[in-house]
Amino acid sequence: MRRPLIAGNWKMNLTPSEGAALATTLRQRIGMRSDVEILLCPSFVALQAVGEAIRGSEMKLGAQDVFWRDAGAFTGQVSPLMLCAVGCEYVILGHSETRGRFGVADPDLDPTILSYFSETDASINRKLRAVLPHGLRPILCVGETLAEREAGQTERVLQTQLEGALQGVTADELYELVIAYEPVWAIGTGRVCEADEANRVCGFIRQTLRDRYGEDLATLVRILYGGSVKASNAHALLHQPEIDGALVGGASLNAEEFEQITYCAPKR
Ligand code: PGA
Repeated sequence: MRRPLIAGNWKMNLTPSEGAALATTLRQRIGMRSDVEILLCPSFVALQAVGEAIRGSEMKLGAQDVFWRDAGAFTGQVSPLMLCAVGCEYVILGHSETRGRFGVADPDLDPTILSYFSETDASINRKLRAVLPHGLRPILCVGETLAEREAGQTERVLQTQLEGALQGVTADELYELVIAYEPVWAIGTGRVCEADEANRVCGFIRQTLRDRYGEDLATLVRILYGGSVKASNAHALLHQPEIDGALVGGASLNAEEFEQITYCAPKR
C-alpha cells in the first residue's frame, strides 16, 4: 500500500530561526508518526536549521527547487549535492510558482516579469534527471490554469507536463517519484478542487504513468493533491482512492492546522 505523504511547502516564508521553531513544535506533536510520512520543505536558507530541529525524528526534509549541475559558475543556484549535504531526502520540482504560473495575480507584478521565472518542462526534466542519481526523491508538480481548465485542456496540459518532465527517464529510475497535482487556480486562492474531481484527475495522471511505464510503477508512485488544502477539507481529499497525500502551502505554516491535516490521512 502507498503510505500517505503530507508535505509542507513553506514557500518564501520563515527565517531559519522561525522555521526551526515551527519544526520543533511539529516534532514534539507528530515527529514520531509512522502511519504517515511527514515532510517539511523550508526555503534554502532554513534547510540546515530545520534539518537540525527534526534530526532523530521520523520527519523528512525537502527543498523547494534545485539546479541540475553539481557545482560550477551558476550564480544563485543550489545543487543536488548541496541539498543532500544538509539532509534533504525530497525536492519539489516544477511548482507552478517556479514556472511563473500564479493562482493569485500579484497586482504589482508586470506580466512580462513572469518570463524571468523561466522554468519549462525541459528545465524540469534536467532537474529530475540530475537529482535521481543522488537518491533525492522528486515531487514533480503538474497542474492547469483556470483558463486551460475552462478551455477543456486540463488533460492535455498535464500530459504535456508529464511527458516533458519524464522524457528519457526509465521506469527503473522512477520508483521514488512522487507527483503532485496542483491546479494553479486552487493555489493560494482558498478555492479547493472538489475531492471527486481531484481524484479523477489524479486517476488520469496514474493512467498516464500506466500507459507509459506499466502497472508496477503506476501502482507504486504516490500522487498528491495540492491547492488550498486545510484541516477542514483534507479528510475528503485524502480519503479518495487515487490521492496519496497532500502538498500543503499556507496551512503548513500553522502547527495546529498542519498537525490536523496529518490526522486526516487514512490508515493504509
Ligand atoms: P496552498 O499552496 O496550500 O497555499 O494553496 C499549495 C502549494 O502551492 O503547494
